[in-house]
Amino acid sequence: MMIAIDGPAASGKGTLARRIAVHFKLAHLDTGSLYRAVARDIRRHGGSLEDAAEAAEMARQLDPDTLSDPSLRDPGVGEAASVVAKFPEVRHALREFQRDFAQQKSGAVLDGRDIGTIVLPDAHVKIFVIADLDVRARRRYNELMVRGEPVTFEGVLAAIKGRDDRDMNRSTSPMKPAADAHLLDTTKLDIEAAFDAAVDLIARKIGQQGCP
Ligand code: DC
Repeated sequence: MMIAIDGPAASGKGTLARRIAVHFKLAHLDTGSLYRAVARDIRRHGGSLEDAAEAAEMARQLDPDTLSDPSLRDPGVGEAASVVAKFPEVRHALREFQRDFAQQKSGAVLDGRDIGTIVLPDAHVKIFVIADLDVRARRRYNELMVRGEPVTFEGVLAAIKGRDDRDMNRSTSPMKPAADAHLLDTTKLDIEAAFDAAVDLIARKIGQQGCP
């Protein structure tokens, strides 16, 4: 079984995907970590995020063993990832890794921006998670405050809005729900309620399709 979970920054898709993977015993890939890692590697080499050729080279050389590096969650890395994610060559270099990952025997859940539309157009279940911008900014702000990061709510809000704009409006693989995706609005849901709604949806879909 392949499950695609897409949605904007701080919509809750990552937490949801991790919990769904545990619940249904599936492998999980946070595809945002790939783009974050490319941005990290460019910076480590002193390169420019706007250099498409260098970004593509970093994507081709990406070491999958470095995807759980905690620095990938540092403030600013999400924005940097969104910048390199606009280059078609970068997306192309990362696509096969994502598709290969999804072929595992156990089945897999991938979360990102273009999983239901481009990476796994034949996924058995597609969920597109949304939430109001203010609510997403508040969630991300609270997360960063707990980590002791020196951020303001206004700064976090502006960063998420900028990222939404870039991710939705790039010409290659823009963030958008697949035509057959289920929209899950988590604006008024806590993680438990969102998880219950997603499990319900997946169970119904598996029942209808009789998928593995
Ligand atoms: O999910 P995230 O916040 O870790 O993603 C960081 C950035 O990576 C996001 O703003 C855009 C890019 N991304 C993408 O373009 N496609 C994906 N499938 C996943 C992430």
